[in-house]
Amino acid sequence: METSRFTLPFLLVATSFFLSLSAQMTGNFKCGKPRDSNTTCRSLVGYSPKNATTYGNIQTLFAVEKLRSILEANNLPLSTTGAQRVNPNQVVRIPIPCTCSNGTGVSTGVPVYTVKQGDTLFFIASEIFGGLVRFQRISEMNKIPDANDIDIGQRLWIPLPCSCDKVNGQVVVHYAHVVKPESSLGVIAAQFGTDNTTLAQLNGISGDAQLLAEFPLDVPLRACSSSVRNNSLDASSMLLPNGSYSITANDCIRCSCEASNNWTLSCEAAQLKPTTWPTCPPSQCQGAENLFLGNTTSTSCGPRSCTYAGYSNQTIFTTLSPDPCSGSGGSRPSGNYASTFSPSFSFMVVLIQCALFFVCLL
Ligand SMILES: *[C@@H]1O[C@H](CO)[C@@H](O)[C@H](O)[C@H]1NC(C)=O
Ligand SMILES: *[C@@H]1O[C@H](CO)[C@@H](O)[C@H](O)[C@H]1NC(C)=O
Ligand SMILES: *[C@@H]1O[C@H](CO)[C@@H](O)[C@H](O)[C@H]1NC(C)=O
Ligand SMILES: *[C@@H]1O[C@H](CO)[C@@H](O)[C@H](O)[C@H]1NC(C)=O
Ligand SMILES: *[C@@H]1O[C@H](CO)[C@@H](O)[C@H](O)[C@H]1NC(C)=O
Ligand SMILES: *[C@@H]1O[C@H](CO)[C@@H](O)[C@H](O)[C@H]1NC(C)=O
Ligand SMILES: *[C@@H]1O[C@H](CO)[C@@H](O)[C@H](O)[C@H]1NC(C)=O
Ligand SMILES: *[C@@H]1O[C@H](CO)[C@@H](O)[C@H](O)[C@H]1NC(C)=O
Ligand SMILES: *[C@@H]1O[C@H](CO)[C@@H](O)[C@H](O)[C@H]1NC(C)=O
Repeated sequence: METSRFTLPFLLVATSFFLSLSAQMTGNFKCGKPRDSNTTCRSLVGYSPKNATTYGNIQTLFAVEKLRSILEANNLPLSTTGAQRVNPNQVVRIPIPCTCSNGTGVSTGVPVYTVKQGDTLFFIASEIFGGLVRFQRISEMNKIPDANDIDIGQRLWIPLPCSCDKVNGQVVVHYAHVVKPESSLGVIAAQFGTDNTTLAQLNGISGDAQLLAEFPLDVPLRACSSSVRNNSLDASSMLLPNGSYSITANDCIRCSCEASNNWTLSCEAAQLKPTTWPTCPPSQCQGAENLFLGNTTSTSCGPRSCTYAGYSNQTIFTTLSPDPCSGSGGSRPSGNYASTFSPSFSFMVVLIQCALFFVCLL
């Protein structure tokens, strides 16, 4: 018994060492950790066009239903039109639907690209889609018998890499970042507010020596915590990273995520014409009728706020923060408080260990 207690960890460490030595970036993202993933989710890719283009062209290329989703992901004003120019090498964040399948994540059936004269799979992957996907992957997923032989007019599914897995126990937004030449895990980590160890583990590599330029790297973006209920119609789309916003509840509510706001989702009335409702429901907080959504009042005991908690086809839910006057901060509000995420990086080290064990068990 004593020996087996020690043999297993040793084996695991040895295996992980061996794995990390043999690992190479594949351009595919892991997706579908048992019990720690959703099968589908929204993911992001960072697209950098090789030639000047427009937001409208990018929307078409990536088959994004609404231009607004691109504006939201890039913190661009709603007045931005599809004709707005995008310069070469400017990076545009594009939301894509993600599905975990067979251990990897791929964009759900989109985008679909129609082969034009002079195209090769390599050109489509590296130039048109900016290196977000490997040409071998397009070939494999479209079951093309000969990668050198594609026909003009042929329709190809471009399987963009994505993931829905938690990272270090946190629900995150996965972002496909195309690695620039001479970059390093440390530089990328600093740019996206993560750390080099997390990036290395997530991508199954051991360090900078295995970081390949022009390959997509899976970067976990921390999302703002929100009070949106899990049964709300927008439960899955309110997971927003720093520097993005989302218009929700039939266009009645605008929520945004800024790291400077303590990583807390901030929502208020959008002041737009609602889509399916004749008018927007009043956004007074349930339980404090003088408090509106997005308002924070100061009471003699401290601040009290009214936050957005999702919507149903009939109403907008709100959450009133605990009354600071009732007790020593430990008391919870009247029933409808639902904090979805509780960022706690203190468990990180333990979770990294767990993740390591997991990799080894596979
Ligand atoms: C799966 O999605 C639900 C709501 O859409 C969310 O509450 C849950 O945290 C997600 N789980 C993971 C592992 O992302
Ligand atoms: C699943 O992935 C493995 C290895 O990654 C591969 O050999 C197998 O063919 C894949 N199965 C399907 C159904 O794609
Ligand atoms: C960019 O423009 C050049 C010159 O017009 C052209 O040869 C090249 O194919 C274009 N690249 C893409 C990805 O469209
Ligand atoms: C992360 O950065 C630290 C300090 O620069 C370095 O010692 C460590 O080896 C790096 N880890 C990886 C996995 O690159
Ligand atoms: C939604 O949240 C409630 C309470 O927090 C929980 O009991 C329930 O299991 C959750 N449902 C889903 C589908 O996550
Ligand atoms: C959040 O995004 C803003 C720009 O929108 C950027 O200036 C800031 O550095 C980011 N903060 C973090 C922690 O990522
Ligand atoms: C920031 O948020 C955390 C929890 O998300 C909370 O514990 C902390 O008090 C907040 N800090 C400030 C300054 O509001
Ligand atoms: C509360 O919110 C309403 C509507 O968003 C706004 O008109 C009002 O000025 C806010 N009041 C305070 C005290 O912030
Ligand atoms: C709201 O949704 C419920 C079930 O999801 C449905 O029974 C009801 O008819 C819907 N109400 C309206 C006004 O659409």
